[in-house]
Amino acid sequence: MISYAAYKLIHILGIMFLLLSLGAYLILSMNKSEKGKKLAAITHGISVLIILVAGFGLLARLGYLSVDPWPIWVWLKVIIWLILTLIIILIKRMPELIPALWFLIPILGGLAAYFAIYKVSF
Ligand code: HEM
Repeated sequence: MISYAAYKLIHILGIMFLLLSLGAYLILSMNKSEKGKKLAAITHGISVLIILVAGFGLLARLGYLSVDPWPIWVWLKVIIWLILTLIIILIKRMPELIPALWFLIPILGGLAAYFAIYKVSF
C-alpha cells in the first residue's frame, strides 16, 4: 500500500514536472520555436496525470473516499488542476497572453499549495 508520505512526494514531483513543462512551452511558443515543444507537451500531459492520481491517493489517505463530503479546498484545487491542464490550449491559441501566463501559472501553483496547507473552508 502506498503511504500518505509517498503520495505527497509523488504529488510534488508531478508539480515540479508540470511547472518545468509549462515554463518550457511558454518560452518555446514565445520564440515560435517547435524544437522541444513536443517534449514539453508530453511532459505536461504526464505530469497532470501524476498530480491527479497522487492527489486522489492523498485524499484517500486523508479519509475523503467519496466525492461528498469533499471540502471546498479540494474542489478549488481540482479547478486549479483543470486550469493548469487546459492552459496549454490557451498558450497555443492566444500567444499574446504568454507574458501574463508566465506569472499567473506559478501563482496558481502557489494557490493550490495554499489550499492544501491551510485547508480553507468558507
Ligand atoms: C486534482 C487535483 C488535486 C488534488 C485532488 C490535490 C489533493 C491534494 C491533497 C489531498 C493534498 C494533501 C493535503 C494534506 O497533506 O493534508 C495535497 C497537497 C499538496 N498539493 Fe495538491 N491536489 C491537486 C492538485 C494540485 C496542484 C495542481 C498543485 C500545484 C500545482 C498542488 C499542490 C499541492 C502541494 C504543494 C501540496 C503539499 C502541501 C503540504 O505540504 O501539505 N495540488 N494536494
